[in-house]
Amino acid sequence: MDSASLLSRGPFGFRLETNVRFGVGVVRELPDYLLNRGARKVAVIVDAGAEKNPAAQSLLSLVRQSFPDVQVEQSDAVEPDYDYLDVFKARFTASVDAVVGIGGGSILDLAKAISVLVTNPGPAISYRGFDMVKNPGRPLIAIPTTAGTGSEVTPNAVFTDRAEMRKFGINTWEYVPELTYLDPEMTASCPRSVTISSGIDALVHTVESYVARGATPLSRVFAVQACPLILTSLAEVLDHPADLELRGRMQLGAFLAGCSLFNGGAGPAGALSYPLGVHYKVPHGIAGGVFLARVARGNVARGSTVYGDLYDTLPDRDPTLTSPGDRASAFCDRLDTLCSRLQIPQSLTPFGVRRADVETMTEQTMLLKGALDMNPAPFGKEEVRQLLLDMTEA
Ligand SMILES: [Fe+2]
Repeated sequence: MDSASLLSRGPFGFRLETNVRFGVGVVRELPDYLLNRGARKVAVIVDAGAEKNPAAQSLLSLVRQSFPDVQVEQSDAVEPDYDYLDVFKARFTASVDAVVGIGGGSILDLAKAISVLVTNPGPAISYRGFDMVKNPGRPLIAIPTTAGTGSEVTPNAVFTDRAEMRKFGINTWEYVPELTYLDPEMTASCPRSVTISSGIDALVHTVESYVARGATPLSRVFAVQACPLILTSLAEVLDHPADLELRGRMQLGAFLAGCSLFNGGAGPAGALSYPLGVHYKVPHGIAGGVFLARVARGNVARGSTVYGDLYDTLPDRDPTLTSPGDRASAFCDRLDTLCSRLQIPQSLTPFGVRRADVETMTEQTMLLKGALDMNPAPFGKEEVRQLLLDMTEA
């Protein structure tokens, strides 16, 4: 990027409020951190998978040694709704002075919500939207056991509004984790299907935030680092699930992708994933992966060669490809190859979506116009409809 274009894009910022500790074993620092923080009544929210996660179990024992009265609450909610949130929050009181989330994206989202709902009265849905939370929440520490959502660093938590049948979360800086431990051991027992879904989610975040109209030279630093980590490790980690180096690469990649996402912007694959999740029960990451390559290829066909920058981040790129268009197409090929290796459908038919459903799904996607508007090429209702038609059968 030359200096003229740097100034002509206008002012921009970058926000990151989460401290990070990365490395094997860093979670063992948690009890001392909480003690030094002055915490007395600690609440830990874990997912059902924690029972089969040796690293999570040993962390819980460690926390219990320093905090014998720690409140540990398990949740098996996947992409929870607001009704669930109200029921779940009743387990906690305002005396909780620190919240720890140990789990995948849904658990971290839940922990974020609890950290502010204990200090903000009323039904959870009254905080739906952006900046609706008035009172500061309790300190939150996020310990992801999956690599993908970026929830450990973003000011967003996704919940389903059953009345409107749409995902529309609570979005606030009041619950952004003050610290996240990215410990590869915590993800080593992550099941294959979750590794794929969350990993693809991180890839969607990376690619769409890099090409987004809201991307800045600062947000792109994060996407550029995330891209090769994810693209070179995701398929490999499935063959070597206990390899902590690969788990660490995915974990750092997902974190970086999260930083890029909320500072740079989302895109159509992210937006299209929501109706597919709510109405067809497709896991969020897989749902994004269904659309990612097709959206990218469509953009490249319309002249968005910016994807070539991401191709340049790959260690095994073909140096003979010199034209921006060729490099952008080569990047799309890489997306196709990965999706095919991970067996992510590139059609909506396997999920039961038919031509007759396209109109409704188009309307539902348009509720996320903000993300669509981030696409480097115009992406309005007609583009959404056409893409869905191309991916469905009568
Ligand atoms: Fe996502």
